[in-house]
Amino acid sequence: MTTLSFQSRLGLGTWQMGESMRSEVEELTAIASAIAMGYRLIDTAEMYGSGQAETLIGKALKHAGKSARDHLQIVSKVLPSNASTKGTIAACERSIKRMGCDYLDCYLLHWQGSHSYESTLEGMITLQERGLIRSYGISNFDASDVNAWLAAERNVGSPYATKCNQVYYALNARGIEYDLLPLMKEKGMALMAYSPLGAGSLIRNSQLIALAKQAGLTPAQVALAWVLRQPIAVAIPKTIHADRLEENLEASEILLDARILEELDRAFPPPLKKTPLHII
Ligand SMILES: NC(=O)c1ccc[n+]([C@@H]2O[C@H](COP(=O)([O-])OP(=O)(O)OC[C@H]3O[C@@H](n4cnc5c(N)ncnc54)[C@H](OP(=O)(O)O)[C@@H]3O)[C@@H](O)[C@H]2O)c1
Repeated sequence: MTTLSFQSRLGLGTWQMGESMRSEVEELTAIASAIAMGYRLIDTAEMYGSGQAETLIGKALKHAGKSARDHLQIVSKVLPSNASTKGTIAACERSIKRMGCDYLDCYLLHWQGSHSYESTLEGMITLQERGLIRSYGISNFDASDVNAWLAAERNVGSPYATKCNQVYYALNARGIEYDLLPLMKEKGMALMAYSPLGAGSLIRNSQLIALAKQAGLTPAQVALAWVLRQPIAVAIPKTIHADRLEENLEASEILLDARILEELDRAFPPPLKKTPLHII
């Protein structure tokens, strides 16, 4: 069992990009700057901007030059409504075309829909056999859903293994520590932590602001370094500002000491019982 190895533990999220022509230049500049400053992981989805976020990534890749793709890991997601066997394959082909690249590093089922897990998995397996994806995974799957998905994977006799589960994980959303995270560790799945800044809300949290100040860090850096204390985690914060791109990337080098971790536990307590998965 091998966990998907990410080249970088801090990636760029692209949700809410590509939604308006007015912000296109700013967003394209942000993606291109991220690639230039050393981001090695980009998260996107066919849903984001109805494909326009992927189109922006394609433009940024073109701008960065042919070799840029080789140094990047790109993750995208199929919408549940498209996740039949044929639909999964066709959706992935469209995503690849929009981004102008030959393959995706990981392709995820965005959340559960009406298509059987087996039919989605057959699509994922075909894509991997054809070299259009390097691995597949899931998103927004709680522990019982992960077990059902893995049973379906056994049913179809997949020669591959589910490499990651992308879920909401942040100081304000710690529920997965109770049962999902231990299960993912056992199954060799990476955690892609989405909304690691609480979709921006953590930046305004007074306790986090005070703790970050004491540590000589920014609230975003504390929130991201805290997520990355989990050995199987990568974090994918979204920003369109160059200074914040730098600030967030630096967090991947920060190790929080025991004192600040204890204070964070007091301010944002870990779960003592099962709670439903946070979903945005
Ligand atoms: N699988 C799923 O269902 C799912 C769901 C949600 C998200 N995601 C993925 O996860 C990514 C990140 O999640 P998210 O966008 O919801 O939330 P997030 O990354 O937790 O927070 C993004 C917000 O924080 C702001 N921000 C970023 N860096 C900052 C900094 N250093 N200082 C102050 N503010 C900062 C951003 O504003 P500016 O852009 O103005 O800087 C934006 O408003 C998404 O883009 C998407 O790729 C996946």
